[in-house]
Amino acid sequence: MLIRPAKCVRGEIALPGDKSISHRAAIIAAMAEGESRIDNFATSADCAATLECLRELGVSIRQKAATVWVDGVGKSGFGVSDKPLDCGNSGTTMRLMAGVLAGQNFDSVLTGDDSLQRRPMGRIMEPLSKMGAEIESANGRAPIKIHGVNPLGSISYELPVASAQIKSCILLAGLNGNGETTVIEPIPTRDHTERMLRWFGVDVREASIGDTGKRICLSGDTRLTAADMTVPSDISAAAFFLIAACCLEDSDITVRNVGLNSTRGAVIDILRRFGADIRFENQGEQNNEPVGDVRVIAGLTARTEPLIKGDVIANLIDELPILAILGTQLEKGLEVRDAAELRVKETDRIAAIVENLRRMGAEAEEFEDGFKVRKSKLTGARVESFGDHRIAMAFAVAGLLADKGETEIIGAECVDVSFPGFFETLQDAVVYE
Ligand code: S3P
Repeated sequence: MLIRPAKCVRGEIALPGDKSISHRAAIIAAMAEGESRIDNFATSADCAATLECLRELGVSIRQKAATVWVDGVGKSGFGVSDKPLDCGNSGTTMRLMAGVLAGQNFDSVLTGDDSLQRRPMGRIMEPLSKMGAEIESANGRAPIKIHGVNPLGSISYELPVASAQIKSCILLAGLNGNGETTVIEPIPTRDHTERMLRWFGVDVREASIGDTGKRICLSGDTRLTAADMTVPSDISAAAFFLIAACCLEDSDITVRNVGLNSTRGAVIDILRRFGADIRFENQGEQNNEPVGDVRVIAGLTARTEPLIKGDVIANLIDELPILAILGTQLEKGLEVRDAAELRVKETDRIAAIVENLRRMGAEAEEFEDGFKVRKSKLTGARVESFGDHRIAMAFAVAGLLADKGETEIIGAECVDVSFPGFFETLQDAVVYE
């Protein structure tokens, strides 16, 4: 994929449905009783992997464009699959499905592509084992074999890593628990599972702990009732366009019906801190999720201190690659710390960001838990996606921001993992000299 430097981005942009919410919608609808209709379901390969796993487990699913009908089998009504369940590139599929399968009375195997087979699964194996499921894997990596048990024991578990995937895995397993399951999260993470479970009638209770922490409880003595919903557009996909618009003079774009859940919204707060002109319009709520149109007009006017670290990282984790590109345009650059989780995403994103930025002539430094980028002129170069969709999309935006030269992205097709049509959408929005 070749990207030329651009003058600005303009117009109205339609984005795919939110990936995190779509996974949850499909899985929770499958655990419900009755048929649920999901509109604006993500077109991503990751969410297609979730649908395929559910079908393998006996769930009847119809799809027409971005509308999906899921005929729920009930929370413990899945059927055994005669082959390993292929989660593709999707960590969310594997970790959430593990929670569902731990509470079924049969054995299952979850596997995925080379990238997914390198990612840590011990983080879900530990709590699920504590609940009574037997899980086998070599070195805590996929393929993982789950010996399901129904009912599971119920646990109270404090998350050792700020991860919505671990939290969601335990809560989904807890639906088949024999009592109250509690997850304690010292650092808040995206709360789509809690909101979605409530939408399907589950009583999910929350209490604050300290300044930021939360205790989340649900009872295994619950049923899920089918519900219809519309998935908001993905704020993590929007971030690429919002940041391009902030950086390219004369830009003015509007993204419709974006998910504005505050556990995902830190990217907007940070852009505003740097002086971005971001306006919310038509705000409302859609199946327990806040939504609205987001308009961005070019410009970053504030000389804000450039350090991002601490609890906010979990809220921004998927936006850090594109924020690194933003850093090259900021007077004081950008430094990100406390983000070691980036090393266990679809690729080692810290290494990938720094390597590609240097290839484009930027000054970038790598730390074990983050990176530092100085204000730099970017020059078109040959960069790698490293098979990671967010790296490919971030460096497409870097190519637009370059002072001169074309940027060639090797392995750009991996954008399909979260955003098929990304390059076409970008092309439609871009204005050249
Ligand atoms: C996700 C949670 C995050 C995020 C991923 C999607 C989710 O992962 O990076 O893209 O849908 O729960 P972690 O929970 O592992 O941080």
